[in-house]
Amino acid sequence: MSEAKLLQNEEPEEIDYMELDQIIDKDFNNDKENLIMILQSIQRRYNYIPKPALSYLAEKLGVPYSKIYGVGTFYSTFSLEPRGRNIISICLGTACHVRGGERVRERIEETLNIKDGETTEDKKFTLESVRCIGCCSLGPVIKVNEDTHGRIMSDEVKTVLDQYE
Ligand code: FES
Repeated sequence: MSEAKLLQNEEPEEIDYMELDQIIDKDFNNDKENLIMILQSIQRRYNYIPKPALSYLAEKLGVPYSKIYGVGTFYSTFSLEPRGRNIISICLGTACHVRGGERVRERIEETLNIKDGETTEDKKFTLESVRCIGCCSLGPVIKVNEDTHGRIMSDEVKTVLDQYE
């Protein structure tokens, strides 16, 4: 199943367990010390961490599901819910806030018809607010995936988002 098809569903119809074995056994030596990196790798594959993959990981590593679930929910970089193909991070840290970050966030919400933390129906975008992404002098700042867009004005939001498929 392609990644695009996967993202159209709330949960993937089926997890490719051979692929998970590749990640857990071959890439990370079936070692619970590598738990964070394994979770990162699973998230890169699915764009989030499907719960069946968490259960499988718990079983393989011999770690209680509750512990793995706890790690998956503790770090804000992990998502246990399906996310969009493109992740928009709007910075609402102090420097970006005073330079109009809230207005940019509102414009993104209006443009995509979603609220902070939500994903568009077509799974194209997920909007997440963050506190400082380390380039305060460029505020207000948004990141789309790995691209940083600094000194963004609310009128430019649509043009920026139109660049993403
Ligand atoms: S406050 Fe926005 S990048 Fe630092």
